[in-house]
Order: sequence, then C-alpha cells, then structure tokens
Amino acid sequence: MKYVWHYIKGLYAFSGPALYINIAGLAAGSLLESVGLLMLVPLLGLIGIVSVGIGDGWLGRAAEWLDAYEPLQALLLVLAVYIAASFGQQMLQRLVMIRNAEFQQRFANHLRLEIYRLLLDAEWPFYLRKRGSDLVNLMTTELARVIGAVNLVTQLASSLIFTIVQIAVALLLSPSLTVFVLVCGAGLGILSRRFIRKARELGSQTSEHARHYMSGIADGFNGMKDIKSNTLEPTRLAWLEGLTERMAQEQLSYVRLRMNSQLVYKGSSALLIAAFILACFALFQTQGAQLLAITAIFARLWPQFTSIQSNMQQLYAMIPACKAVYELQEESRKAAERPVSLQNGGAHAGAPLPVGRGIACRGVSFRYDKGAEEATLDRIDLIIPANRMTAIAGASGAGKSTLIDLIMGLIKPDEGRILVDGEEIGGERLLAYRQSISYVPQDPFLFNATIRDNISMLRKDATEEEIWEALEFASCAEFVRSLPDGLDTVIGDRGVRLSGGERQRLVLARAIIRRPSVLVLDEATSALDAGNEARIQEAIDRLKGSMTVIVVAHRLTTIRNADQVIVMNRGRVAEQGDYATLAADAGSLFGRLLNSQFKEASA
Ligand SMILES: Nc1ncnc2c1ncn2[C@@H]1O[C@H](COP(=O)(O)OP(=O)(O)OP(=O)(O)O)[C@@H](O)[C@H]1O
Ligand SMILES: [Mg+2]
Repeated sequence: MKYVWHYIKGLYAFSGPALYINIAGLAAGSLLESVGLLMLVPLLGLIGIVSVGIGDGWLGRAAEWLDAYEPLQALLLVLAVYIAASFGQQMLQRLVMIRNAEFQQRFANHLRLEIYRLLLDAEWPFYLRKRGSDLVNLMTTELARVIGAVNLVTQLASSLIFTIVQIAVALLLSPSLTVFVLVCGAGLGILSRRFIRKARELGSQTSEHARHYMSGIADGFNGMKDIKSNTLEPTRLAWLEGLTERMAQEQLSYVRLRMNSQLVYKGSSALLIAAFILACFALFQTQGAQLLAITAIFARLWPQFTSIQSNMQQLYAMIPACKAVYELQEESRKAAERPVSLQNGGAHAGAPLPVGRGIACRGVSFRYDKGAEEATLDRIDLIIPANRMTAIAGASGAGKSTLIDLIMGLIKPDEGRILVDGEEIGGERLLAYRQSISYVPQDPFLFNATIRDNISMLRKDATEEEIWEALEFASCAEFVRSLPDGLDTVIGDRGVRLSGGERQRLVLARAIIRRPSVLVLDEATSALDAGNEARIQEAIDRLKGSMTVIVVAHRLTTIRNADQVIVMNRGRVAEQGDYATLAADAGSLFGRLLNSQFKEASA
C-alpha cells in the first residue's frame, strides 16, 4: 500500500486541502442522492397523502402551517420543495464531479510530465539497462493504472465518509441491530483478506503480461522486414496466441474472484437478513415498523460494505502498477545527470562550451558489465587536439563507439579521467560541453516530421538559407529539391521512407547546422556510394581548422586526410600517429588493415 500512498500524497501535495473538500463533496453527493426519493415520503406525509407518524418536531409544525392551504396548493408546494431539493443535489453532484475530474486530469498530467522529465534527466547508462518497450509500457498502461488507483482511493474515501454517516443514522434507528451488522461486516472484512491478496497477485500478473505484450509487439513491428523475409510469421503468431491465452486466463481468474467475493457478500446478506427477521419474530415479537427499519438498514448499509470491499480488491490489483511506476521514478531520479534538473523547471543554463585546446583521455577504463573480467576499454590514453581531424579505426567490436560515448560524456569511465581543455567534464560543464557537440551515430535516427523540422531541431533560428547550406554540405540538397514537397516533406516513421544513405546524409546536415565545436561521426558515410562519400569527405576536410572532427571509419581510404589516426584493438589503443606514417609501416596493425582493404577493393 505504501506505493499507493506515495501517489495519494502526491495528489494531496498537488491539490492541497481542496482535495478534502472534494471528497466531502462526493460523500455529500451520494448522501443526498440516497435521501432524495426517501424525502418524498415525509413530504407527502405532511399533507396526509401518505400516513406517517409526524409527531411534533419541525415536521409537525410544517404540517400545521400547510393545513392553512387548499390540498392541491399544499401538494404543489410540497412537490416544489422536492424538485428544488433534487435540483440542488444534482447541481452539487455536477459541481463536485466536474471538479473531481479536473483534479484527476491535472494530477495525471502532472504525473506524466514529472516522470517524463525524470526520464529525460536520466543519464545514458540508464537507457542501456532499460528496454524501450518497457518504458513505453510504464508510461502508458501502467501509468493509467496508477491514475486509476488514485481515483479509486478518492472514491473509497468518499464512500467511507458516506458509510460513517449511514452508520450514525442506523445507530439512531436501532443501536443493537447496527452493532450486529457492524460485527458481521467486520467478520466479512477478515474473510475477504484472502480475496484481496489474490487480487494483488493477479494484478502483478496483469503488469507482467502487459510488459510482455508491449515488448513483443514493438519488437515484432520493428523487425517486420526480418520477419517477412525469413518467414517468421507463424512463430510470431504462435507467441501472441500463447500470451493472449494467458492474458485471458488471468482476466477470467480476476472476474471469477470478483464474482466469488460478490457471491459471498450478497449471499451472506440474504442469509443474515433472513436469520435476523426470524429471530426478531420468534424472540421479540417485533412490530412491522421495526422489521421495516431492519431491512432498511441492511439494504442501505450492507451494499456499502460490499462496494468498499470490491473497491479494495480493485485497488489491490493496481498496487503492482504503482510499485513499478514508483520504482521507475526512483531509479531515474538516482540516474539523473543534470545538476540543474528539468524537474526544477530549469532548462540547462548558459551557452555551449566550445573546446579550445583539446580533449584528453587519461588512463580511461570502462566496462559495460561491471563484474566482467575483461574491460571493454582498457587504460586508454590519448589526446584529441582541437580544430583537427582525429580518425578512429579498428575492427568491429574493438570499442570505437564506446570510446566516442565516453568522449561525449554519455557514459562515465570506471577508472581514469576525461579532460576537456584540462578540466574534467561533469555537472554543469558537461551539459554546456555537450551543447557544443554534434553527433552522427552509426544508426542515424530521424523524427517522424518534415525534413525542415528534423534539421532545424538543433537550431531553432536557422534560416532557410542556412538549412540549404547544411543540405549542400551533406550533399543531399539535390535529392531534397527533387522531392515533391521539398523541405516540407514528411519523413515516415524512423525515416523508413528514405534510403539508408539519404537518411545518413540528412542526419549529417542536421549535425552541421548547429555549427558545433566538436563534430563526431560514427561511420557516418558507411551507407553512401563512392561519389557521395568522396564529396562529403571533401566537405569534412574543409572543416579542419574550424572545428574538432572525430570520425570513426571502417573504410580507411576515407580518413586519408586525418591529422591523427587512433587504431583500436580489443579495447586498447594499439597504434596512434598520422595516416602516412602508419600506412607506410606494413607490419603495423593499421598497415595490415589497409592492405586487406586494398586487396578487397582490387579483387
Ligand atoms: N550496451 C552494451 N552493453 C554491453 N556490451 C556492449 C554494449 N555496447 C557494446 N558492447 C560491447 O562492447 C564492445 C565494444 O563495442 P563498440 O560498439 O564500442 O564496438 P565498435 O568498435 O564500435 O564496433 P563496430 O565497428 O562494429 O561499431 C563489444 O564487444 C560489444 O559487444
Ligand atoms: Mg561502433
């Protein structure tokens, strides 16, 4: 329950005492509703249409007063009072319900934003640990369940108030009978603990299934091309059939559980009423009026118990979702990398931090798996001078992309330090530093938006001219011009309507428009034909001197003009030097790599 309380406290912190007023309002609403029709009886009694013992109270005085009127007038008057009271109740109900919905919606949005901010604040390794589809599931299905739980608690609170009022009324009518009903209710509560525990178990199954469903579906659609080309459709279908069967079983178990508990409550209610009436009749020779009171109390109070009970069951079924979302929040809070958190309303302060002299790695080691014996990167020492072009070469899996992630401050070294202009990067400086970096990853990503939006994303104030300049640089101006909508062409999901090379060039244009101080290209031209690659290569070469360029390349001919080449081998820097020297040494790793590529090309 502590997880649910966390969110209730959140709701309270968010809405303040107005929440109490609202809960009281909800309770008053249901109270008035239950009184509504009943009120008609004494009202009609006033004018003698229905005979009820009126006595001398205020009702008696009202009756005397009404006697002065004609019967029809009196009836109209009474009915008018009834209509006014009903309307009043409806107005109150309407007001409270709308306010309540408003609260819930605001709170839901607040929660969504808070979690999204926390996630955006989290450092990159957090995302290395998480599955994207799990995060999607938490942000959608599970969050909806959390909001549902919070709703339920407000409802429960108001029905609890309502019940207390009912108990008070019942106590006035017949104390002994009420005590008896309460004792039975408490007994029922103890009995229902089993149902509640079971509901919670089923609730965590619901969470688990939702997670599998989301990840399986997402995987399936992301890999649809692989599925189709390898005729994996039957296995995928079999997977979903299995999962949906289990989901159906779980839902059925839940319904069965609810119906079983309902059966117990409703059944016991009938039994109790029968037993009680019999006892009253046999033992106390009770009068009809009292019997009426008994049934009235049972009819009003008992359903309250059962509805509280079934709400509790629902609530417990939602606890696992609250727990999961709570844990996600805590985990992402711990993984926050921003000193000025988005949470505190702060976008990061200050201007980009350009690299003046260079970036240095001093004895940097890194492991993805902290327990592993062999390090992914092992005691790396290197210097990347500012405004020069540094190339990183090496076999697949050597650790090139990992090294780049470290240099960009996305991941932190386990040992050693990374210095920018002689100072370690971290905290506020890290964000400023990252603002001066543009990065083209190995698998470029484009948002599902227009080309213009995708490119000007990195610089909101970019003019049309600057956009075309960037496109020209990335040698894709021609192809964008040939599109029917030009810059306003919408790129499909993940840019699938573009070829791999087109996508790569657009991402390069986006990287360049920021006029970064550091340009990082991880295999950024790998998908291009020789002509386009050469053109981009020239453009990048021209950047030398105005920005620090770091390129990872498999095709070694593309780094011919690099000022420095770093050759990685199994997580270590194997060789380091300028292109010509390394290439000249046929015995070096670089020489061998170059040779084999040369042979490949001429074969
Ligand atoms: N997220 C990750 N979790 C665990 N291990 C990883 C992760 N990313 C990479 N690795 C491992 O770290 C090693 C270095 O990977 P890295 O991506 O840096 O290689 P690379 O040199 O960029 O290779 P490529 O040329 O194929 O892109 C590999 O052995 C890889 O299996
Ligand atoms: Mg890589």
